[in-house]
Amino acid sequence: MCGIVGYVGSEKCQDIVIGALERLEYRGYDSAGIASIDEEGLHLCRAVGKLAELKAKIKKMPIPGNTGIGHIRWATHGGVTEHNAHPHYATDEVVIVHNGIIENYAELKADLIEKGVVFTSDTDSEVLAHLFSHFIKKGLPPVAILQEVISKIEGAYAFTALSKSYPDTLMAARNASPLAIGLSDNMAVVASDALAIAHLTRHVIYLKDNDYAIITSKGCTIYDSNNEIANREIVQVKASPVLLDKAGFRHYMEKEIHEQPDAISHTISAMSDTTGRLTAGLDISSLSSIKGIVLLAAGTSFYAAQIGRYWIEKLAGIPVVCEIASEYHYRQPVASCQSTAIVISQSGESIDSLLAMRYAKKLGLDTFGIVNVVDSTIAREADKILPTRAGPEIGVASTKAFTAQLVVLFCLAIALGKQNGHISASRADELHHQLLKMPGAVGKSMELFDSIRPIAHKLKNASSCLFLGRDILYPLACEGALKLKELSYIHAEGFASGEMKHGPIALLQDGLPIVSFVSDDDMARKAVSNLKEADARGGHIIVVGTQSALNLLDFAAEKITIPECEPLLTPIVGAIPAQILAYLTAFEKGTDIDQPRNLAKSVTVE
Ligand code: M6R
Repeated sequence: MCGIVGYVGSEKCQDIVIGALERLEYRGYDSAGIASIDEEGLHLCRAVGKLAELKAKIKKMPIPGNTGIGHIRWATHGGVTEHNAHPHYATDEVVIVHNGIIENYAELKADLIEKGVVFTSDTDSEVLAHLFSHFIKKGLPPVAILQEVISKIEGAYAFTALSKSYPDTLMAARNASPLAIGLSDNMAVVASDALAIAHLTRHVIYLKDNDYAIITSKGCTIYDSNNEIANREIVQVKASPVLLDKAGFRHYMEKEIHEQPDAISHTISAMSDTTGRLTAGLDISSLSSIKGIVLLAAGTSFYAAQIGRYWIEKLAGIPVVCEIASEYHYRQPVASCQSTAIVISQSGESIDSLLAMRYAKKLGLDTFGIVNVVDSTIAREADKILPTRAGPEIGVASTKAFTAQLVVLFCLAIALGKQNGHISASRADELHHQLLKMPGAVGKSMELFDSIRPIAHKLKNASSCLFLGRDILYPLACEGALKLKELSYIHAEGFASGEMKHGPIALLQDGLPIVSFVSDDDMARKAVSNLKEADARGGHIIVVGTQSALNLLDFAAEKITIPECEPLLTPIVGAIPAQILAYLTAFEKGTDIDQPRNLAKSVTVE
């Protein structure tokens, strides 16, 4: 993960670098740093903790100069300490910021130590600073220095280096980790994410893998892996560059939970044509070419994929497999039954999902991206995009992006089923009609904050919690467990209700909280039997469902009633109480809700 920034131009660099880092804080928040250069030489300031700590430090000791680099860290190699924070330096000659992992850093470090280099951090990144220093001392020009450094390193990287020998130049490169260069009059800026610099310029070049660049205030020259000058297109950043506030809510997550009715209705609109007909944004030939699907995703997006699989198989009769992105390409999967890979990613930057998509492309599959960030790498590399219109999601725990992903998948399932005749046109229209009720049902679910608060108050004392569901509610149970553990740090696991008796039931003891999602369909009675088994063994049963489903569950200790809805759509409405329960439990425990420990919004390391 981590976020990097560089600026060279006519303005003072400090506030520009910090402003971009503020917009990159979703990528990590263990520590942060800034370095600059002026006629006196290099200046450096680093601080452990969130960006606010760095800001407090530089308030006392400002960073001068018009050329600077910055970094926000999510620790991979080396603990969270000031000496492991970036920028890293080599003597007083060079400073670097890096995102990614230099996989052969141990060999490089050993070699450099043998040459007499003294390391001051435990990171993989520091080798970059010393490699730069080594080649700068040889008197090479920036292009040759970059070529030499890149030829030595292996792994994923996006980096920017600043040297005393070339004070008006940023040297940058990328492989697998994203890097965008923004250009404007008398300045250039580089960052891990185009949105972090969109308030400075909307004209951006995305470096491709193995590209490297020499950047000055007058522009940039980009080279490809053959060391040829590469003509990369300047594109206009589409997304809004505003730095979002919490609009009166206590946390971004709370705000984003409340934004779901809008996120859902905007996403439904994006899946419909101008007459309101549901097309999933695809024409008939694209729909009819989909014969078998592999859904690739990570974390919450993976649970959306699993729910999508039930829908697509039930409504369109098309075979679907779901793959955890980080496992997919290493497993050497057989894709002969599939025509299409659909990658689901809020950020569009998760490296696991990106690499899985590239692998699927190599296998000859058409690639679709269900992404929320339309300028992201996955969005740019996919053959087609099915956008979630959730708007920027800042809270690390995914909420509105998840329900928007579900909407896209449901629309796709209906469009495919209608197109291939698996469901009738009238059934498709009925389901579309039911989907249009979702913004209202989800809006009504916001009233659940009050009824869930006392449940969260008790749950905060639990050391463990199980989540259960059957059929389309099984992946929702897993998502509920993920939300609770990432926010409140309470151990939580999601199980298929019917699987309890095959082992997990051994965990049951008096008072163990069991959150169970129940839908009003032919699965309800089976889920009730599974819950009775848990109740008989002392489990504290908390059920989530519509009133008609809950009528079967008079023995439950706590009931969370969601608005009535088409049973197939229960995962969308049921997601809201799962999010609220996790949010309120974390609130009661006083954890850092928007930036939980050890996490980052966008996971760009393998
Ligand atoms: O941006 P992506 O959807 O690719 O992110 C995938 C996961 O990292 C993400 O969903 C993660 O699990 C969230 N923290 C869950 O709330």
